[in-house]
Amino acid sequence: MQHDKIAVIDFGGQYAHLIATKVRRARVLAEIRQPEDPLEAFADYKGIILSGSPSMASFGEDSGYNKGIYDLDVPILGFCFGHQEIAKHYGGTVINGKQEWGHADLHLNREHPLFAGLGESEQVWMSHFDSVTAVGPDFEELGYTVLGEGAEPHRFAAIGSDELRRYGFQFHPEVDDTLHGDEMIANFALGICGCHPTWTMDGFVQQEVAKIRAQVGDGAVFLLASGGVDSTVAAKLFAEALGPGKLKLLHVDNGLMRKDESAGVVQAFAEFGLGDDFHFIDATDTFLAALEGKIEPEEKRRAIGDTFIAVFEDEARRLGLTEHLLGQGTIYPDTIETGGTKRADTIKTHHNRVPIIEEMIAAGKVVEPLADLYKVEVRELGDRLGIPHDMIWRHPFPGPGLGVRLLCSNGEVADAEQLESITPAVREAASEHGLQAVPLPIKSVGVKADLRSYEHPVLFHGKADWETLQKVSGRVFKTVDGLNRALWNLADTMPRAFRPLAAGMTRERLDLLRECDHLVMEGLRRHGIYQDVWQCPTVLVPVEIDGAGRELCIVRPIFSERAMTATAAELPRPLLLELKRDILALPGISGLAYDLTSKPPGTIEWE
Ligand code: XMP
Repeated sequence: MQHDKIAVIDFGGQYAHLIATKVRRARVLAEIRQPEDPLEAFADYKGIILSGSPSMASFGEDSGYNKGIYDLDVPILGFCFGHQEIAKHYGGTVINGKQEWGHADLHLNREHPLFAGLGESEQVWMSHFDSVTAVGPDFEELGYTVLGEGAEPHRFAAIGSDELRRYGFQFHPEVDDTLHGDEMIANFALGICGCHPTWTMDGFVQQEVAKIRAQVGDGAVFLLASGGVDSTVAAKLFAEALGPGKLKLLHVDNGLMRKDESAGVVQAFAEFGLGDDFHFIDATDTFLAALEGKIEPEEKRRAIGDTFIAVFEDEARRLGLTEHLLGQGTIYPDTIETGGTKRADTIKTHHNRVPIIEEMIAAGKVVEPLADLYKVEVRELGDRLGIPHDMIWRHPFPGPGLGVRLLCSNGEVADAEQLESITPAVREAASEHGLQAVPLPIKSVGVKADLRSYEHPVLFHGKADWETLQKVSGRVFKTVDGLNRALWNLADTMPRAFRPLAAGMTRERLDLLRECDHLVMEGLRRHGIYQDVWQCPTVLVPVEIDGAGRELCIVRPIFSERAMTATAAELPRPLLLELKRDILALPGISGLAYDLTSKPPGTIEWE
């Protein structure tokens, strides 16, 4: 079935994917397009939405987008930056100023199909520096906001030209804080663009099942089942489409999994009735042998990646899987440039780009039934396919697994001179907030101005509320060079002596990390906040504190949208006390700290 489609031009705003998801909620297919796409790329759409952007319309920062879209005879609706661009293009004025943040009340000047079914006043959500202050001759103001009683109205919060079928909202209807944003988006897609609401998850499943059957024919499919959401949902969908005996699954335990992870994956697939088609290989020894003596983060990553390829190729050949079609759980953001993270592309090197798979792609032997879906839709589909809730809503877990969370060291202080030179400045920054601080003698990976950094963390100690901790960590990065992480000591006293210890990737250290990670995950679940936190790496660093155990344990809870940026998440104090009690009691642990770092300057993972 051919669906009516809306194009969402992604100007780099945080919410382009959210817009597309909301359009689909109106049962209309939405696809992300790039600003510079040629006009032909827009030929099949019944409407276009322009997203927001970090660029400033007032300064003419328009990403050089293809303005030919304005000549197309389809409705166009812009949000925030998109709204300002439309106003400008048709003779309006945009200034840098009159900014608004957060909630605002939109007052409508008249009834309009974009706001069909809504009230005269609507709660909307604003986030802008630039504002439209005048519209061109063909346009009218459809609504304005008022910031508090008696204040001057903020004009042109919604504008439009029914004749041209061009519209703009200064606010973001795609975020949930705009209470009836879904209705506004549906009014555009269905009412203004006249799309037929044919895109449903049930319809999608039927369509994909038919496609899989047609493509696979008498053949069979094999799929790498990591236990992650996408490959698990893809496996269930293939099983539905193909029936028994035509799907082979392979799960590789690289020894860098969470506690009981592989056993859980094996059990889950048995419960799905796919146990007979499921192959499991414990390649822990092979991976640990490849990692022996490797200290440097990139070297470790390479060793893990290369070993994965070798193990995978061996197994695929041994099981005679090379003749099968390859099933992949690739999802929509993976297939477009702006989707996922740049890193996520590299990540695929492990699974999707190994030579044997490249050969299969070239031969047209790859099936990707989720390639049109967003994460949230994959989860919805997983739910329909009967995959347990907990499996669908798991935190993301990196391909190299605990390998990037177990730091290694040759036992020498990293950059001793630098460490000494920054110590006074670090102390001073902390003392302004009544805290103590010391830079640690190891380094971790971070990101500054889009570049990889490899620098020291600073450890703060003292009583402080969350706001103070945020302030002091934000400040220390501004005032002291050579730091990319800020930690808060969760132990009772400020450590006196830190000693980096020689340590590699050993089974014992991995087991200890697994135990710490398990305690953290259990804690998040016990306190009912597992799903509020986006991800929470637990990290071990081989630093002895005051002659106690060998490992400093770090907990890194974060909030994020798509992992490009992140902020530290606040955990409840009772949970911190429990973690302190349980983790510090483990033999081998010398200290416990809370990572307060946003991304940038830190990355989410430590390596
Ligand atoms: P960073 O550390 O770059 O991580 O802020 C961003 C997101 O990507 C995940 N990540 C990986 N995922 N293979 C993966 O599958 C990898 O090599 C990898 N490195 C980082 C990380 O967990 C976070 O969600």
